[in-house]
Amino acid sequence: MFQAPKGTRDILPPESDRWQALVATFAEVFGQAGYGLVQNPMFEDIGVFQRLGEGTEVVRKEMYDFLDKGDRHLALRPEGTASVVRAFNQHRPTVPWKVWYLTPCFRYEEPQAGRFRQHHQVGAEAIGSADPDLDVEVIGLQHDFYRAIGLSRLSLRLNSMGSPGDRQAYAEQLAVWLDRRLGELDEADRANAVNHPLRVLDSKRERTVAVVADAPLIIDCLSDEAAAHFDRVQAGLDALGVAYEIDPRLVRGLDYYTHSTWEFAAGSLTSAQNAVGGGGRYDGLAEALGGKPAPGVGFGAGIERILLAADAEDALTETARGVDVFVVDVAGGDTGRDLTFELRRNGMSADRAFDARSMKAQMKVADRSEARFALLVGPDEMAAGTVTLRDLRSGAGQIAVARADVVAEVAARLESE
Ligand code: HAM
Repeated sequence: MFQAPKGTRDILPPESDRWQALVATFAEVFGQAGYGLVQNPMFEDIGVFQRLGEGTEVVRKEMYDFLDKGDRHLALRPEGTASVVRAFNQHRPTVPWKVWYLTPCFRYEEPQAGRFRQHHQVGAEAIGSADPDLDVEVIGLQHDFYRAIGLSRLSLRLNSMGSPGDRQAYAEQLAVWLDRRLGELDEADRANAVNHPLRVLDSKRERTVAVVADAPLIIDCLSDEAAAHFDRVQAGLDALGVAYEIDPRLVRGLDYYTHSTWEFAAGSLTSAQNAVGGGGRYDGLAEALGGKPAPGVGFGAGIERILLAADAEDALTETARGVDVFVVDVAGGDTGRDLTFELRRNGMSADRAFDARSMKAQMKVADRSEARFALLVGPDEMAAGTVTLRDLRSGAGQIAVARADVVAEVAARLESE
């Protein structure tokens, strides 16, 4: 028997109800703010993702790439932003282009709790404006989304990577500094210290963490323009009442960031996999992908981790809802078949049992469906042209209703609740 591949999982009801509620909340929060849904292909020319930067693990080690039957070198998307920016370059929409997405992401990582080879993100991108108030809008909406699904134990870390020039100058300064301390770093981080110095700041290895504690900080190297951008972002978050902490060592795992970068962490999750969403500005990415220069800002948030955090905080629990009506037919099945559809076509949720089972067996299914009302049809009802209506919640007995009136009767009762 086959199993789902390592690092992937099936999302089944009722867990998928919570998933849908999460996505609906995301669509609502971002829809209200003028963001439209964007759907991109699940795979792209591998070059699209290589522009994320050779310094990132995602590109160097984790890509699911393949040759198709026409010998094109393609890759499954490891994240959402590169495809959205590629689509922006291709279609040249009016700016700012504000979009949101829901996408699986594929990364060949070592699976563990909260870390998958196929995970899913909801995310948003706003492209074509360098206004720091757009950073504030995106961060503020991300914050409000978590709040709307009931998460409260979250912290937000914020940093600035400066302008592309600041970032480059800082990386060079850091490389020189790391070179002097090379022998003290954990061996596994030494190659990065030479080739991708910023990545060393991400390291969780004890020896390295101790060394980089005194490394120069990017926020001490910001140009006036980048410092003003960062100030405006902080002022905006203060005005919105979004709490944050400046973390000058937050560099994040992707190479395209400039100016604001941030990450939300869930206090209810263990620290290794507690990031429930991160983002930043990527003012050079459109150009790196062959388009005209276009600044952009956005974030991605991992659905699996948000649901883990929701479990821990008892949030998103109100999603399972029984059907309005369950139809039980032990008189041949025609009424059961037709009445469920009549109810549905009149705007009610309705379900039924199959396989011509006994009254007792069908009532068991009705109970499991948590239906508000049951409609029962047996030989007596068939003879009388009626349906028996039973209130399953109040247990207040049952009444006979003429078959022709029963849909209106149930609708009226549901209406009056
Ligand atoms: P990221 O930080 O790589 O950023 O991923 C965003 C979020 O996806 C993480 O905070 C986490 O919640 C979730 N996530 C990442 N990897 C995994 C995994 N292996 N298993 C489960 N969840 C995971 C990005 O992907 C950027 N595209 C975000 C962005 C958008 N920046 C600007 N715009």
